[in-house]
Order: sequence, then structure tokens, then C-alpha cells
Amino acid sequence: MKGRFFAAGLLLVAALPAAVHAADLKRAEEIVGGRCFLCHGMDGEAASALYPRLAGQHAEYIAKQLSDFKTGKRKSDTMSGMVGDLTPEEMKALGSFFEQKKPGRNGRADADLAAVGRYIFTRGNQYSGVASCTSCHGPQGHGTPQLPRLAGQQPLYLENQLKQFNTRERNNDNAVMHSIASKLTELEVKAVSSYISTLE
Ligand code: HEC
Ligand code: HEC
Repeated sequence: MKGRFFAAGLLLVAALPAAVHAADLKRAEEIVGGRCFLCHGMDGEAASALYPRLAGQHAEYIAKQLSDFKTGKRKSDTMSGMVGDLTPEEMKALGSFFEQKKPGRNGRADADLAAVGRYIFTRGNQYSGVASCTSCHGPQGHGTPQLPRLAGQQPLYLENQLKQFNTRERNNDNAVMHSIASKLTELEVKAVSSYISTLE
């Protein structure tokens, strides 16, 4: 009797987080359907190359960026107007919502350009002191909960972010990326963005 009661209690505890999760995802879907879909699509597929692909991006990273847009730590004319009323729970839910989506693929890149990009991505540039991107973002650019996934991102978005890290227009936690982006030439920015966009 005692044993059965105990087992039922355990089941209840185990079921709770999953139930909360489903409700969170439903809330996230409502928010995305209300506004985010216009630019990021219902499945995190960007409507234009200027908008980042969110499908497959890490939940924690997404939640942190949304919070930074809200506090103004990360400046964006477009995103600052989208996040004003989001609670921390909704930001986390939106992160999980997009993380579960499977990222789509980009078109082919110019092979010569991508070859230069691959070198920078995997080896860096020892002559100008650029560390390889893989040393932080992982061998396939899949990132970690704290480090964004880069694989398959829109090339134009990547280029823009590297430029903004360099000029410090993107200045939320940019110490590392500023020191890297400021040493990349224009060709290297284009090449590495192009190569990363082909990774799956
Ligand atoms: C009108 C278009 C538009 C809408 C609507 C929009 N976004 Fe964005 N979003 C952008 C742009 C543009 C950027 C790139 C930031 C920049 O450079 O200004 C961005 C960036 C982001 C990023 C950062 C991605 C990264 O890789 O760092 C997240 C996360 C995000 N948006 C989530 C959302 C969510 C969630 C919503 C709905 C609440 C939303 N966006 C609505 C255009 C939009
Ligand atoms: C020492 C670690 C480190 C190295 C090496 C590194 N990065 Fe990053 N990168 C980061 C961190 C940390 C962030 C997230 C900043 C934040 O939280 O806003 C980031 C963010 C980015 C972003 C923004 C992604 C988005 O979704 O908005 C891009 C693009 C990027 N890195 C490209 C590169 C490229 C290209 C290289 C190689 C030339 C590189 N990184 C090397 C640590 C690193």
C-alpha cells in the first residue's frame, strides 16, 4: 500500500515538468503566430536574408538575446519594439520553441570563396592573430547553450553581425567577437560567412 502510494507520487512529480513545458510551448507558438512569424517564419526560417534563422538555435542563447534587446544592451531598431512585453518565462519558452525546429538549408556557395572561409573557420589566421571559429563554436558550428549555433545561418546576417561586432554597434558581450571581427579583412568576412552558411 505504502509502496504504491510512493510510486504514484513519483509519477506525478515526473509528469509535472513535461506538462509545464507543453503549456510554455503553446504560449510561445501564440507569440510567434502573433508577430515573430512575419520575419522569422512559424518554423524559425527567416523571410529574408537579413533576418537570422532561429530554427535549431540554442534556447538559452535566444532567451539571452531577447532579454538584451529588452534592456537595450543589444541595440536593434527592429527587435527593440518586439520584446517590450515579454516575460523571462516567455523568452525561455520562445527559445525552446525555436530550438526544437529543424533548420533548413541555404543555397550553394562560390567554391573558391567557401574554401577561404573553411580555412578561417577551422584554422583561423595565424598571421593576423585570429583564433579558429571552431575553437569556440564547435567543429561543425553547432555552438553550445552559451555560444550561438552558426551552422546554416543566413550569410548576409552573419556578415552584418561580424561588421557590427567590429564597429561595436553590437555591443552586448562583444569583447571576444570584437577582437576577432576587428582583425578580419572584408574578403575573410565574406568567405567565412559564406562557408558557415553551407554547414548543416
Ligand atoms: C520586422 C521583422 C522582425 C520581427 C517581427 C521579429 N524579428 Fe527578431 N530579428 C529581426 C532582425 C532584423 C534581427 C537581427 C538583429 C539586428 O541586427 O537588428 C532579429 C534578431 C532576433 C534574434 C537574435 C538572433 C541571433 O542569432 O542573435 C532573436 C532571438 C529574435 N530576433 C527573436 C524574435 C522573436 C522571438 C520575435 C517575436 C516576439 C521576433 N524576433 C520578431 C527581425 C524581426
Ligand atoms: C573565444 C571564443 C570565440 C571564438 C574563437 C569565436 N567566437 Fe563567435 N561568438 C563567441 C561568443 C561568446 C558569441 C556570443 C556573443 C553574445 O552572447 O552575444 C559569439 C557570437 C558570434 C556570432 C553572432 C551569432 C548570432 O546568431 O548573432 C557570429 C556571427 C560569430 N560569433 C562568428 C564567429 C566567427 C566567424 C568566428 C571565427 C572567425 C568566431 N565567431 C570565433 C565566441 C567566439
